Amino acid sequence: MSSVLKYTRYIFASGFMFGSAPTFFVVWTGWRGISLLLPKWLFQKIDDDLFGAYQKLVLFFYEHITGLKIYFSGDLECFKKEESILYFSNHQSTVDWVICNAVAIRQKSIGHLRYVMKYSLQALPLYGFYFYEHGCIYVKRGSFKPRKMLQALDYLKHPKIKSWIVVFPEGTRFVPNHPAIEKSKKAAEDADLPVLRNLLTPRHKGSWLIFESMQHSLDAVYNVTCIYGSTIQKNGRQKAPQLDDILLGRCKEVHINVKRVPIHDVPVNEDEFRKWLHMLYYENDKLLDSFYNLTDPLPITAGGKQLKLRISETLPSFVFFASLLIPLGFSSWWRTLYLKTCALGTLGGYVWLAIRSVA
Ligand SMILES: *[C@@H]1O[C@H](CO)[C@@H](O)[C@H](O)[C@H]1NC(C)=O
Ligand SMILES: *[C@@H]1O[C@H](CO)[C@@H](O)[C@H](O)[C@H]1NC(C)=O
Repeated sequence: MSSVLKYTRYIFASGFMFGSAPTFFVVWTGWRGISLLLPKWLFQKIDDDLFGAYQKLVLFFYEHITGLKIYFSGDLECFKKEESILYFSNHQSTVDWVICNAVAIRQKSIGHLRYVMKYSLQALPLYGFYFYEHGCIYVKRGSFKPRKMLQALDYLKHPKIKSWIVVFPEGTRFVPNHPAIEKSKKAAEDADLPVLRNLLTPRHKGSWLIFESMQHSLDAVYNVTCIYGSTIQKNGRQKAPQLDDILLGRCKEVHINVKRVPIHDVPVNEDEFRKWLHMLYYENDKLLDSFYNLTDPLPITAGGKQLKLRISETLPSFVFFASLLIPLGFSSWWRTLYLKTCALGTLGGYVWLAIRSVA
């Protein structure tokens, strides 16, 4: 593919996804208004469908249009049945969010993804507010407020609300040669835990709180490891690709290992939970070693299954959002609503988040 085509694809896809945020917000606000009189689980059900539709649009571009190859290994049976889970994964890049979509859609759970996110992401126009309304949880590192998190979790305990709660326990992204790595190794040594080479030492506090509070509403923990093909190089591990790199075709394959741990196999005592989480990361570290130590041929998990996603899963979302973008060209009424939503929605969202003080 020529680089002109790649850049065109990148510009079109990013423009389309960002441009669809206000249209999404118009539709969503309509539903929010109507549902004020309805039970909260019903609001959440349709909200999840809407969120899922937007995330399928993301996958339409990231998986179908780019042709990104995703290989799955591990407990593939877990894709057969919908469940509520706690999702732990290693964290390297903003693409990790797209990877969560790719995993969840294969279990028809894409709309139920709820992220535990950095406090600062509230500043994202429209999305920052929307994520909160969708049941995502903002956390402030340093001055973590358990009470706020428990409030958010209480809402998710409703038996009719399904959730994939996504946590990146490393707390921040792993970037090769970054000083954070040495610091993190020292933290493991000081705690008398095995030191990790390819991951940061997981922090257990937030995960423990979620597990403790949600265990009776969850079916399992998914233990996920993600390896970007482009990071495996002879001269050592490279920085993970970012969102634009994928659209520009700079990373062509991803390996995802998913292990399912039934919820009643997780230790129910905080100290044991912490060790358990560390050992889970320690095992994943060995898996990563087998990729980055450049064993030749690649490790067995590299031959995972592709589990192809049918185009009929994502194309309808593209058509739906396109049909809402096209009228911007000729309807001044729609254009005004669209622009007002951008401005007022962003402003209103900031005010609301500030009043609620969500983290
Ligand atoms: C997590 O996944 C890794 C890699 O597949 C595996 O070795 C480890 O046993 C898993 N841990 C648990 C608790 O399932
Ligand atoms: C990878 O290399 C390191 C250091 O050379 C070694 O300690 C580790 O055991 C290796 N891991 C694997 C899976 O070969």
